[in-house]
Amino acid sequence: MRLASIAAVFSSAIGVSAQQQVLGQQSNPPNIVFVLTDDQDVHLSSLEYMPLVRKHLIDKGTYYDKHYCTTAVCCPARVTLMTGKAAHNTNITDVNPPYGGYPKFVKQGFNSAYLPVWLQEAGYNVYYTGKLFNAHNVDNYNTPYPAGFTSHDFLLDPYTYNYMNSSFQRNKDPPQSHEGGYVTDVLAQKAYGLLDEAVDAKKPFFLMIAPSAPHADIQNNSGSLSFDAPVSAPRHANLFEDVKVPRTANFNPEMPSGANWIRSLERQNTTMVDWNDHFYRQRLRALQAVDEMVDTLFSRLESHDLLHNTYIIYSSDNGFHIGNHRMQPGKSTGCEEDINIPLIIRGPNVPINQTTQLVTSHTDIAATIFSLLDIPLREDFDGTPIPVTHKAIEAEENKRREHIQVEYWGFAGGEGIYDRRLHQNNTFKGIRIVAEGYNLYYQVWCTNEHELYDMSSDPGQMNNLLEDGGKVDSVFGYSLEKAVERLDALLMVQKSCRGKDCREPWRSLHPDGSVQSLRNAMAERYDKFYEGQVKVQWDYCHNGYVPEAEGPMFQDQGSAFSDEGFMWPDWV
Ligand SMILES: *[C@@H]1O[C@H](CO)[C@@H](O)[C@H](O)[C@H]1NC(C)=O
Ligand SMILES: *[C@@H]1O[C@H](CO)[C@@H](O)[C@H](O)[C@H]1NC(C)=O
Ligand SMILES: *[C@@H]1O[C@H](CO)[C@@H](O)[C@H](O)[C@H]1NC(C)=O
Ligand SMILES: *[C@@H]1O[C@H](CO)[C@@H](O)[C@H](O)[C@H]1NC(C)=O
Ligand SMILES: *[C@@H]1O[C@H](CO)[C@@H](O)[C@H](O)[C@H]1NC(C)=O
Ligand SMILES: *[C@@H]1O[C@H](CO)[C@@H](O)[C@H](O)[C@H]1NC(C)=O
Repeated sequence: MRLASIAAVFSSAIGVSAQQQVLGQQSNPPNIVFVLTDDQDVHLSSLEYMPLVRKHLIDKGTYYDKHYCTTAVCCPARVTLMTGKAAHNTNITDVNPPYGGYPKFVKQGFNSAYLPVWLQEAGYNVYYTGKLFNAHNVDNYNTPYPAGFTSHDFLLDPYTYNYMNSSFQRNKDPPQSHEGGYVTDVLAQKAYGLLDEAVDAKKPFFLMIAPSAPHADIQNNSGSLSFDAPVSAPRHANLFEDVKVPRTANFNPEMPSGANWIRSLERQNTTMVDWNDHFYRQRLRALQAVDEMVDTLFSRLESHDLLHNTYIIYSSDNGFHIGNHRMQPGKSTGCEEDINIPLIIRGPNVPINQTTQLVTSHTDIAATIFSLLDIPLREDFDGTPIPVTHKAIEAEENKRREHIQVEYWGFAGGEGIYDRRLHQNNTFKGIRIVAEGYNLYYQVWCTNEHELYDMSSDPGQMNNLLEDGGKVDSVFGYSLEKAVERLDALLMVQKSCRGKDCREPWRSLHPDGSVQSLRNAMAERYDKFYEGQVKVQWDYCHNGYVPEAEGPMFQDQGSAFSDEGFMWPDWV
């Protein structure tokens, strides 16, 4: 078996001088305000409890119903968002060293090659407040300082998830403790201050605001971490008293579901369910201060007369589950609750009060921001710009990539107070694909267990079609076997792709461009080709991205379809 070489390659950006002309070309370059919450779900209905986000963003902008993170945990998701690269290309796959966290981000060279730096090079002023990455803390905040900011005020570990005793670090100042202040209110004041600074500077700006809500509360008592429900501002403490986690089909089900460690979970007892309902209410309450902050931000943008020329983006780093498939509160799985997350965009020419089903991911965000600001795209982006105008959305409806790749390494742990085991072997790769006629999730675990869900008939992912004794033998009119052969080949490309191969994976399999979608790939003439593809297969489970563990890798020169038949990949 030959392994693809994985050396980190930072292809040189389009010349800086070309980028700097951008501002000259646009008579009135737009600004961007980006609000990024922490662990906010779509499927537990959190947005329904944020009337001001609805009023200013959903009702006045476009909601991306099929937006996904590709690695459902904070630091990897944030690095992907800010580099435009999948986690297997950043090798930031965890929240702490050795596989992730701020020190790993620096070590991988990204402190000089990520969004804030690129935006500054393009002539933008860049501001940030809130959580940047995990393991960015009161000791390492200045070794080095994160690059690329005109002004910043970061929330630092180990106080990031301490709702009533946060620690912020502004520009070159030492960290400052805000004991007794409610973290989102402290953050909101900082955000308004940065907005004022940005306005005073009279230059186009990018302002990112990253609250820690609604993440679980974590206290670090001299080295031992204790998790608790999120904390609300005192003024919101009594809201939603009767609200419970939505009792969807996969909520604490009678029969086990999923595979691997998830399948072996015991059903939660009533004590756990009750407490987890409390945890849920605390999340909703904690989000109220974010909702209020969004309202004030809009008033301020309006009073500065900036609304007509500012894009406002709202998203979360990853999703969240509570009780789904019997799991304790947490994320880091491939289930829809963890990967499908909010994305709302409002701004000049963005359709008002619209929802789109186009498939988008965090890998696309950096490219999207480049495109909104008219900055030439980088060749090494794994993602593509998300269309934001009516015309562009319509144009992409039948040709945009219809899937995203999901990847994860390491363990999963609950963030409530019950069952605090760390579940090992939570390493997997998946493909989430949705288009007219099909809606599927395919996942291969490092234990080589396989899952396939028909998300239209089974949105809760309760019926694994690939389980022994499965009762279904076809999906969207094709045999399961043939569909899985295609999905597996696509996953094989995506799991080690880089740049163009990630953006156009079907083209790596079919260089003549004849296949652009799963539907195209199902054609009978490709049956032999797909049958012959080497399958995704792990050698062993590992907590980080060690290619040796990950079995065969796709090499485009080896397994592309040609009309003469097909060529065997050279590792066979
Ligand atoms: C948004 O659109 C829906 C129909 O799609 C409509 O019922 C609703 O009133 C609209 N909301 C606003 C604020 O325009
Ligand atoms: C709050 O955090 C500071 C460090 O930023 C620490 O010195 C102080 O003891 C903490 N207060 C409480 C009540 O834990
Ligand atoms: C918790 O605090 C201890 C010092 O009391 C520190 O060594 C450790 O790194 C902290 N843990 C985290 C996850 O921040
Ligand atoms: C549920 O399990 C927890 C943890 O084992 C235990 O503390 C609690 O008493 C149990 N509750 C019931 C109703 O059995
Ligand atoms: C993890 O997976 C390996 C196979 O890579 C297996 O041998 C081991 O038993 C698994 N461990 C757990 C805790 O499931
Ligand atoms: C990713 O980082 C880990 C930890 O430093 C390292 O062991 C591994 O070889 C790296 N993987 C790649 C593909 O560079």
